[in-house]
Amino acid sequence: MPFDSRVKSFRIATGFAVVGMLLAGCGSEDSAPSATTTTGAASTSAAAPADSKPATVTVDVDDMKFSPETITVKAGDTVTWKFDDKVPHSVQGIGDKAMGINSPIFDRGEWSYTFTAPGTYRYLCSLHPEMRGTVTVS
Ligand code: CU
Repeated sequence: MPFDSRVKSFRIATGFAVVGMLLAGCGSEDSAPSATTTTGAASTSAAAPADSKPATVTVDVDDMKFSPETITVKAGDTVTWKFDDKVPHSVQGIGDKAMGINSPIFDRGEWSYTFTAPGTYRYLCSLHPEMRGTVTVS
């Protein structure tokens, strides 16, 4: 009797080991296609600049500054300012060229502007004119 039960438990243990190996096998098969998918996505995004699809570039408005202060985008791209400071701010274009750039005053939130014509657009915060930024559209 003790011998039989030992054999039985050995078989059970072996059974679990096989199941474990099968699961491990499934796991590695699952990860292989997802690794391929990741590679595909990477090559798609690498090809994106060549397609010249409109992009969205984010400027953080925090800590009393625009960051990055200077950005370069392509004509047709959209710039989104994300306001997340302790005090309110706005985005206001400087000069005739940037007249259309005129956001409300935000405590928190986002405001977007699509740049259609190449050029250099300077802007400031209407509440803190020392806060300045530049968008260069190529
Ligand atoms: Cu401000």
